[in-house]
Amino acid sequence: MDDPTNAFKDGAGGFVSVSEAVSILLDHGIVALPTETVYGLAACVFSELAVRKVFMAKGRPANNPLIVHVHSIEQAQQMAWMNETALHLSKTFWPGPLTLVLPSRGSVPDVATGSLDTVAVRMPRHATMLEVIRQVGQPLVAPSANKSGYPSPTKAQHVLDDYQGTIPVVDGGPCTVGLESTVVAVNNKECVILRPGFITANDLRDAGCTVVNDTSPTAMQHSPGTRYKHYTPHTPMRLLFSEQDVLDATRGRNVYVLAPYQRTDLPASQPVWNVLSAETLYAALRDADALRVEEIIVLCTKSVIEHSALMDRLRRATGEEQE
Ligand code: TXA
Ligand code: MG
Repeated sequence: MDDPTNAFKDGAGGFVSVSEAVSILLDHGIVALPTETVYGLAACVFSELAVRKVFMAKGRPANNPLIVHVHSIEQAQQMAWMNETALHLSKTFWPGPLTLVLPSRGSVPDVATGSLDTVAVRMPRHATMLEVIRQVGQPLVAPSANKSGYPSPTKAQHVLDDYQGTIPVVDGGPCTVGLESTVVAVNNKECVILRPGFITANDLRDAGCTVVNDTSPTAMQHSPGTRYKHYTPHTPMRLLFSEQDVLDATRGRNVYVLAPYQRTDLPASQPVWNVLSAETLYAALRDADALRVEEIIVLCTKSVIEHSALMDRLRRATGEEQE
């Protein structure tokens, strides 16, 4: 096999078209592609060389498995055993931000699954990504296209920034969801949420599933990614839970405030407040880094705390949820 250190000798980075992306992928290269959640760093699932390049480029631990992206349920069934519950969930939520962890049929190379006997599969809801998968003629692995540990990219420019333009990117505009997919393990009729996302436990229940919301260490062990430092900006970050605490902590300081609502009446001694939302969180963290502020302060109101995916990413970004 070729030396994976050739990762960046494939060709120039920068913006590429769909047909250029397809050629690069078929030639064992890697390309960043848009999805509705975040940009992914894609490789053909059956090219071990290309999959290794993804791990290398991201600096990702080899035992953290990748999600396999498909353009149809039939394609998912070639990779994974789908029971009735899995089929029902895929028919209800695909294409969309739901990843199903299912028993593997053994066709996906170990390098992509981290040698697990399960495989994570999702059909993304982005016309460009679906078209690339269709033209390539095989599923694509695609972890979020950030450097390991940093916030995921939600705009093509973020990918160029992270890799200094060395990775080719298809620009599909800003991601509409903004946080990674919900990862769900399907065990018989039960769903275990391994990573919260846009599709909530209630959405799964409304679809008739029994949700076991087990975030115990044993359950988390089954989703290796939850063990690693994640989504962390370079700037120190702190969560505060009352408006008064935010005002006290920020007065007269060069800090970046994220809050779920605006305050237009703040005194001149207070920094302006920036909008906190799931769709724009990662872009905001990147903006704060670029501004080289002292600290990022986030106001977590009841509505923020109740948004399980947003709160999960905020806690991880501050380092609270790591082992
Ligand atoms: O929205 C998304 O899911 C994005 C876009 C690009 O599709 N992708 C993404 O991939 O977030 P990544 O690699 O950054 O996160 C995948 C998560 C990791 O936490 C990983 O450990 C978990 O899914 N995962 C993958 N395969 C698994 C498996 N077989 N069992 C349990 N967890 C798995
Ligand atoms: Mg990721």
